[in-house]
Amino acid sequence: MTDSPAPAASTPQNEGYLDLRELVARFEEMGELERVEGADWNLEIGALSETVAAADPGRAKALLFDRIPGYPEGFRIMSGAANAFRRLALVLGLPEPETEMDLVRAYRRRARAGFKPIPPVEMTTGPILENVDRDEDVDVLKFPAPFVHEHDGGRYIGTDDLVIMRDPDTGWTNVGTYRVMVHDRNTVAIWMSPGKHGRLISEKYFAKNEPCPVLISCGQDPNLFLVAHQEVDYELDELAYAGGQRGRAIEVIPSELHGLPIPAYAEVVLEGEMLPGELREEGPFGEFMGYYASNASELPIVRVRRVYWRNSPILTLAIPSRPPENFTFARATVKSAMIWDEVEKAGLPGVKGVWCHESGAGRLFNVIAIEQLYPGHASQAGMLAASCHAGNYAGRWVVVVDDDIDPSNLFDVTWAMSTRCDPPEDIQYIKRSWSTPLDPLLREPPWQNNRAVVDACRPYGWKDEFPKVAEASPELKASIRRKWPQLYG
Ligand SMILES: Cc1cc2nc3c(=O)[nH]c(=O)nc-3n(C[C@H](O)[C@H](O)[C@H](O)COP(=O)(O)O)c2cc1C
Repeated sequence: MTDSPAPAASTPQNEGYLDLRELVARFEEMGELERVEGADWNLEIGALSETVAAADPGRAKALLFDRIPGYPEGFRIMSGAANAFRRLALVLGLPEPETEMDLVRAYRRRARAGFKPIPPVEMTTGPILENVDRDEDVDVLKFPAPFVHEHDGGRYIGTDDLVIMRDPDTGWTNVGTYRVMVHDRNTVAIWMSPGKHGRLISEKYFAKNEPCPVLISCGQDPNLFLVAHQEVDYELDELAYAGGQRGRAIEVIPSELHGLPIPAYAEVVLEGEMLPGELREEGPFGEFMGYYASNASELPIVRVRRVYWRNSPILTLAIPSRPPENFTFARATVKSAMIWDEVEKAGLPGVKGVWCHESGAGRLFNVIAIEQLYPGHASQAGMLAASCHAGNYAGRWVVVVDDDIDPSNLFDVTWAMSTRCDPPEDIQYIKRSWSTPLDPLLREPPWQNNRAVVDACRPYGWKDEFPKVAEASPELKASIRRKWPQLYG
């Protein structure tokens, strides 16, 4: 095994942890992990993951399922790995936060302190090669792929996953999270929404009537999942981006069939090809907006010809469902920081906070707080937040608030909308935007939707004469808290 090269000098280091297994131990020490034995892959693991996460958003424990009926002890499933304040801070290598905005600010501070992508480093071997099943020995159902929700069309081995493909023209490697359904022992299907990078790549192969080589990692470090499911820019290598986040290169091993990069510390990785001419029915699947919005459809199959797996493998599980979901807290944090970054790079000054609410599945209801500096500033902020790459896909509402409003506090935000927004004047629409068949309001292609940008700031022209807020001053609040602390818990 070769060593990772030293990280770029200016990149802050996350000495952090080696892999998912070390995280399991660390989460357990922190009291952040619950072991669950005997839950069935058929619905029980899905329902437990969904309901435990929803009961305490941002604080629910991760679940590690073992002794899954019908499977050997040690063939495990991990749910909600990084989906809470303390675990996410550990995974991102950030100080422990108290509030949502603490996390977003810490992420951004690090990004601004010299974030640089670090290209992956190739190794000749690693734990993922502990077992390699080839050709007729392939059986993806030897792993406890869950049947997640009651009305799904099959078992899903890929939810918290990495789908890795190489662009046939440029050689760029894309990593995306796309759901993966099992058809049978050596056939799976990948569902990719129009415009997703993996879909664009596969369409290039299919246009030439060629199979599209693919790797699917079904269990791995949550840092890789966090990068794979965000809208990282086209032609930016997500493995290098994840290395930059970690402060060390991601170790990869070239795959046997196609030389694609297998994450060396992943748990289970499938390799094969998507076949353009062979279609089978995929779905339906309960999805992230909280609905079964798209029906089953005919998709090209993936013929799986290699399975690389570690001893006692851990599949990782994300549960799209009615929000809050077991991945939306983590998604909201990273997406908020990415939107903040992108609007600033587009030249927007005065941003004080961004939060993508879990009730909008971390995409559909995003709030940006600004210190208003000039006429039109609020409109510019809203339009940019709605249109930048990190904020564009499948959005619906962007609300712009003043900097006395905490964008992560829905109570504050709805108060601002109720008192500072004059609907006919302050709501603008963006039409025919990038959406998805998963949007419950869309019934047919093209999958475009409409957006509202809500200006819930004090009207710029007379903001300084806007009525004063009726609440005790910070000094008065502090003084009475000191005198009667018992009243404040
Ligand atoms: C749990 C989870 C499941 C997802 N499943 C899909 C999916 O099945 N298809 C899809 O197009 N996007 C899915 N996404 C969203 C994509 O991962 C996301 O848009 C990402 O940016 C895609 O990578 P790309 O930008 O390289 O295309 C999922 C996200 C999460 C968090």
